Amino acid sequence: MHIGIDLGTTNTVVSYAKRKARGGVEPQVMRITQLDEYNSSIQEEILPSVLFLDFDGNIVIGKKAKHMKQYHPDRTISNSKRYMGTSMVFRIEDRAFTPVDVAANILKVCKRTIELNLGGKPVQQVTITVPASFNTDQIRDTRNAALKAGFDPDRIRIIPEPTAAFIDFINEQSELVEEDRLVDISTPKRVLVFDLGGGTCDIVVMDVVQSGNCLKVEEKAVGRYSELGGIDFDLAATRYLLQKFFVDNKIKEGDVEPVEQSQMVNKLMAFCEKAKEFFSNQMMLNPEIESTNPSFKMNIPEFWRGKSQLFSITLKEYNTATRDLYHSSGIKAKTIEDYERCKNIVDPIYETLERYEIDKNSIDYIFATGGMSLYYKVVQRLKELFPKSQVIKASNPLEAVSRGAAIFSFYEVEIKRQNEKASISKPTIKEPSSAEMEIVTKTVLAEAIMIDVEEGLPREIISKNQPVPYKGVIRDSFRVTSPSGIKIDIYAGEDPYDCKMRIQKSFTGNFRSPVTPGTPLDIEYEIDENKYLKLRVVVKDNMNPPIDLDVDSDVKTVGLEKVKE
Ligand SMILES: Nc1ncnc2c1ncn2[C@@H]1O[C@H](COP(=O)(O)OP(=O)(O)OP(=O)(O)O)[C@@H](O)[C@H]1O
Ligand SMILES: [Mg+2]
Repeated sequence: MHIGIDLGTTNTVVSYAKRKARGGVEPQVMRITQLDEYNSSIQEEILPSVLFLDFDGNIVIGKKAKHMKQYHPDRTISNSKRYMGTSMVFRIEDRAFTPVDVAANILKVCKRTIELNLGGKPVQQVTITVPASFNTDQIRDTRNAALKAGFDPDRIRIIPEPTAAFIDFINEQSELVEEDRLVDISTPKRVLVFDLGGGTCDIVVMDVVQSGNCLKVEEKAVGRYSELGGIDFDLAATRYLLQKFFVDNKIKEGDVEPVEQSQMVNKLMAFCEKAKEFFSNQMMLNPEIESTNPSFKMNIPEFWRGKSQLFSITLKEYNTATRDLYHSSGIKAKTIEDYERCKNIVDPIYETLERYEIDKNSIDYIFATGGMSLYYKVVQRLKELFPKSQVIKASNPLEAVSRGAAIFSFYEVEIKRQNEKASISKPTIKEPSSAEMEIVTKTVLAEAIMIDVEEGLPREIISKNQPVPYKGVIRDSFRVTSPSGIKIDIYAGEDPYDCKMRIQKSFTGNFRSPVTPGTPLDIEYEIDENKYLKLRVVVKDNMNPPIDLDVDSDVKTVGLEKVKE
């Protein structure tokens, strides 16, 4: 069985791919068993990526957990994907959860569903997707979560979400007769994939071509990691409604306890998400409806000091409250704080094109995916920004990534097996059969990787845009400063002078035998096709064995522990 998992910020989706009787591959979304708000066991295509710790200490993932967030925000963890690759720790009572723990618990639920569906059949490959902009630490955390959930380390592949969504789209297109196809990639085409999900805005420019049975997807530019998604739209509308509520009810914000405020915000966030989906559906049914300015109403029980409150928001109010998210901030971001303030869908696109010097007019197709692309204004705005390109919407933006990942798993395993067989029997034949497709992806690093040994100046070891896999060595450039051990900091950013460079991880390793300070070090590094980084420190003293710095090593990972507010 070939599995794809979209481990999303808000939603997790699992698909499997199987060979169709008349050739080709069919991906199918698996319904995931979970509890709903009434404690009934249900099976749904979407598993909300939310963890709730119930009062008996049980971990609950999914729909029930998402519901409980409104009532017990202090016992739920959501959006933890935003903290992958950091030392964040979420605390609930006396329990501590890292973002890896949360992801591992979500993946465990997926694994259970997969095993139920498989009925004893072996999992051939699990492809887990990550934002294209994820750096090596975020990817390592994702892989770590999969290992913790019990997936076989040799059967995990990690691919970028936009690539997966695009593979699903091409697979769908290949089912159609030529006249009905939306794209023609028989000659090389440039595609900008815009994936606006719950928590990340992922931008990838890729050159694609399908010649014969071979689909080539080559990343040309990857946007910086951008924390922008549906949550930000919900939050903007929530702020508007909460302010209005305070004014209408003559409540001073200072009189509201932080716990009360947090509950109100969470309830309004759920309300605003429903309103957004309502408006989206209305617009899909009838685009003319915008002029009638429909409104969404819902009673929120126990909203303020035990009292219920009827809330309503019109489409116009919603669009005004979220207006800034569709327009460039005009800020030329210099610091991380500036960057955080630039929350809108325009800046990440322009920044990516600028950084990679890509001409906007060279883009043939804009492919919009992710749940937020269902909101009509997003696609409308993309059309305004790229009047010369064809804007295409994914047919099912909530499922495309996991479906594409399953298709990728299928072709990776089946084609590889076929090629292996062919090379054993007839070494010259490597072409897949006519019904099969070969997917060749070329992935590049979104950011450069810098390392720093004992607080010197960070040195670039792998540059931005480096295709992976890749390996290399830095000889004699660093020196031991302490006789007992070594501390290495890893940074990600544009280059060593990037003011937005962020520290990713700090590793400390102890020497087995003391080393004279000043002894040179070699640093060997290797980054695999999944963008999984391994470092090896070789002390040139002929006494100490090399120190391996990667997930499987015993070397303790240290870092400042942040505690969720
Ligand atoms: N019909 C709809 N109209 C508008 N927005 C929608 C609709 N359905 C879902 N969404 C929004 O899409 C977002 C979730 O999208 P998606 O499932 O693609 O995100 P994700 O994969 O969990 O997150 P990410 O890719 O950022 O990690 C949520 O903010 C949700 O409110
Ligand atoms: Mg997503």
